[in-house]
Amino acid sequence: MKFTLQATNWNKVRANSLAFFTREDKGILQDYAKMYGGGSLTSSVSALIESGDMKGKTDELFTLYPTKSETSASRVFLVGIGKPEKLTLEVVRRAAARAAKKAEAMKSKTLAMYLPQVNGCSGAEIAFACVEGIMLGLYKFDKFFKKEEVSTPLETVTFMEGDHGMYGSTSAEVKAAIAEAETICNATIFAREMENEPSNNKFPETMAAWAKTLAKGSKVKVTVFGPKELKAHKMEGTLNVNKGSVKEARFIIMEYRGAKNAKAQPVVLVGKGITFDTGGISIKPAAGMGDMKSDMSGAAAVIATMKAASDLKLNVNVIGLVASAENMPSGSAMRPGDIITYANGLSVEVDNTDAEGRLVLADALIWADRYKPKSVIDLATLTGACVVALGHTTTGMMGTDTAMMQQLSRSGNATYERVCELPIYDEYDELIKSDVADIKNAGGRWAGAISAAMFLKRFTTYPWVHLDIAGTARSEAATDYIPKGGTGVAVRLLTHMLKEESKA
Ligand code: BES
Ligand code: MN
Ligand code: ZN
Repeated sequence: MKFTLQATNWNKVRANSLAFFTREDKGILQDYAKMYGGGSLTSSVSALIESGDMKGKTDELFTLYPTKSETSASRVFLVGIGKPEKLTLEVVRRAAARAAKKAEAMKSKTLAMYLPQVNGCSGAEIAFACVEGIMLGLYKFDKFFKKEEVSTPLETVTFMEGDHGMYGSTSAEVKAAIAEAETICNATIFAREMENEPSNNKFPETMAAWAKTLAKGSKVKVTVFGPKELKAHKMEGTLNVNKGSVKEARFIIMEYRGAKNAKAQPVVLVGKGITFDTGGISIKPAAGMGDMKSDMSGAAAVIATMKAASDLKLNVNVIGLVASAENMPSGSAMRPGDIITYANGLSVEVDNTDAEGRLVLADALIWADRYKPKSVIDLATLTGACVVALGHTTTGMMGTDTAMMQQLSRSGNATYERVCELPIYDEYDELIKSDVADIKNAGGRWAGAISAAMFLKRFTTYPWVHLDIAGTARSEAATDYIPKGGTGVAVRLLTHMLKEESKA
């Protein structure tokens, strides 16, 4: 996919399809006259709008078939973007995605569009949102289909400057925004690819190989621990969770030192990398278990964000840590009732082998201490309870780093990968009390997302934020730019946050 910015208009541009964003507004026709000039196309547009068939609502997309004398495009899409007062960058992401998907469905190789105007937003920001909608909307996990069943891809999208200009941005600024959005979307897509990969092709060693591949030729330094190093560093959580697997566990360290001062305190990102979660001996029910192939979405977000941070040359130090294991039941598997003693001396009763995410994360949280981090953010598909609480649209956030949580809230709103804070009051510590060890790994029926966070908190020695992405890492039904399956959630969120950090 290629994006170009051209100082041209719809009647001159060379493209298979043209998309016009259409507001739900009384002034819609005047809008057209002003924006798109005269010509016979205007009259077909007028006819459509005057017919009352199109109102400009966000679920509308109409196709017109212009004559050769009007434009080189064989199709014109009128894409509804709703009421002007409700027009946000998120509406733009969604509309751009719908336009691109429609163009691709009609086998267009090239699509041209004007950027819609969004109050208070620059052309650079609007172009950024269009690129997000288009790239993320067109993503498909189709590599396992027979070749002929794969659709013809859209190859080029042209943003036309038209006569209205770029809403206060220069061409150079718009081009830079496009390039940046492409980098971040490619990272998000890579996270989706990792999430969607089936678990017969995806093991802890695969996660490590992906981290290395991604870092190749970049400033990111990757170190991988296998069983020997895991034992030497007493990474007992990861080792124990992996005991039932025929594959080996891995601990992955990714270092990107982009700050002017390479010794400046880093932000540490920690990812849960369970390449398949059967539940272990506390085995999960069969229905929907296949979704547990993406129980490494936290790890995917971390690995992909490291790549984005380095590609964007962000002026920050970031460390990525991934604890990766496969949670399988077998004769050698960890059992309920087992007691694990961690490198920091804390002992944990394994109450439920299906609460494995917190067990592997604990190793990474202990390890993170050595970086004297400014903040540690862990990402994990940690609890079904979080999905019950917040559904699939919002990530659960808990932690001790108030400033970072505020930044993540702002970044969440900006990227629309929104987070909502849940409390971690001391009283919840009761939930993870054990009769035989310092704590236990499952907190019972109530406040399951919080008891998981209370567990993690015991391993932190620095400002910390926990993001439970159990609900947001997979989508059950496709929306405009989030297809069904792995969403690549948190790559855009974290990269936005790191960008803000790099300005500070
Ligand atoms: N990976 C699951 C959580 C999950 C559930 C992710 C649904 C995505 C969708 C996690 O390892 C798990 O099994 N958690 C248990 C914890 C319980 C045993 C304390 C859960 O939520 O049921
Ligand atoms: Mn589990
Ligand atoms: Zn899990």
